[in-house]
Amino acid sequence: MENTHRIYTILLVDDEEGIRNVLDITLTHAGFKVLLAADGDTGFKTFLAQKPDIVITDIKMPGIGGIDLLKQIKQISPDTEVIMITGHGDMDLAVKSLQYEAADFITKPIDSNELELSVKKAVDRMSINQRMKSYMDDLEKVIRKKDREIDESQSLATIGQTVAGMSHVIKNIAGGLKGSSFILEQGIENENREYLVKGWEMMKGNIDKITNLSLDLLNYAKTSRPKLKQINPNHPAREVVELLSSRASEKQINISLYPLEKELSIMVDCDAIYTVIFTLVTNALDACEEKNEVSGTRTDKKVDIFVEQQSNWIVYRVRDNGQGMDDNVSGVLFKEFITTKGTRGTGFGLMTAKKIIDEHKGRILFESKKGQGSVFAIKIPLQPVQTGRQ
Ligand SMILES: Nc1ncnc2c1ncn2[C@@H]1O[C@H](COP(=O)(O)OP(=O)(O)OP(=O)(O)O)[C@@H](O)[C@H]1O
Ligand SMILES: [Mg+2]
Repeated sequence: MENTHRIYTILLVDDEEGIRNVLDITLTHAGFKVLLAADGDTGFKTFLAQKPDIVITDIKMPGIGGIDLLKQIKQISPDTEVIMITGHGDMDLAVKSLQYEAADFITKPIDSNELELSVKKAVDRMSINQRMKSYMDDLEKVIRKKDREIDESQSLATIGQTVAGMSHVIKNIAGGLKGSSFILEQGIENENREYLVKGWEMMKGNIDKITNLSLDLLNYAKTSRPKLKQINPNHPAREVVELLSSRASEKQINISLYPLEKELSIMVDCDAIYTVIFTLVTNALDACEEKNEVSGTRTDKKVDIFVEQQSNWIVYRVRDNGQGMDDNVSGVLFKEFITTKGTRGTGFGLMTAKKIIDEHKGRILFESKKGQGSVFAIKIPLQPVQTGRQ
């Protein structure tokens, strides 16, 4: 039988001495250590004392019957494999024993091949469970190690906000999924192709949202040290403008970049700084788009991006003449995951930006006037930063 390096113990509980003797010989011959008990009571006591791997028990015995023994064993040791021996006409009991998670049942008169097969299946299941358990233990170790790696400066309060922010976004997506599955169901029920197409489009949109959310989460949870490189500070700003200019012109928003004229370089994680500028510029575009024009007046919507040097800092400023912010939004910015964009927003944008700027020992600031616009600025020190963590 499988697993030669471990000797499994089998407890055999049967009130018929003849059966006990025959099975003892068969199972010992097959390489098992066999324990014997003549009734349910003794069987349970032996079980508690010796913790066998497998129990084979007669279903009908005086005193504690096989089913009760099975229940008691499963209650304290759900992983123990219990095989039931049934006689003719015990079918109801046999079925009942399966409900209580018996591994198998064999019928009298016992055929030794059938017995060996049943025990072999139990052994295989146990070794799979053990492998699974050791895999899960390893996984747990990896997770624990990752946990320890999480930036210790990240306070529990921030973690709480992360979870709260996440659950809000997940609830939104779940609502969307429910809606799309309802439309799909209607489409299937009524054989309505239009519903099917609509439901499927909605479903795809929600799948995209989940994908983006997991990317946001990964970005937010990333604890590796920024990959610092010398770059021209105009470089990430230029890339953002290039990427977003067609979106801006579609919405009739003027987007302009005022690069730093002086030739100098800063030591930053270019991709991370790109992400921050991208967040600020998309927020500025959203604010312009959502601005309600006062009737009769029409201002040209614009977003300006400045790259400047202010003493020992490189400053990126993103200015828009969009809808601006209420105090109840600006009051919690960078502290909580807040979005005013319903299901379109997550509130991860600025929280992630803040985290990245903190990692660069920089500053992130803003000013905003309701109905008039906002300016967001990020300041990065010109001196290389020592982040001090891996
Ligand atoms: N330039 C801006 N003008 C007006 N409001 C802004 C501006 N930038 C940010 N906000 C407000 O701050 C909120 C949070 O912004 P943040 O980028 O964190 O999330 P979001 O844009 O709502 O969603 P996402 O995570 O998808 O970017 C926005 O919902 C918006 O109300
Ligand atoms: Mg945003």
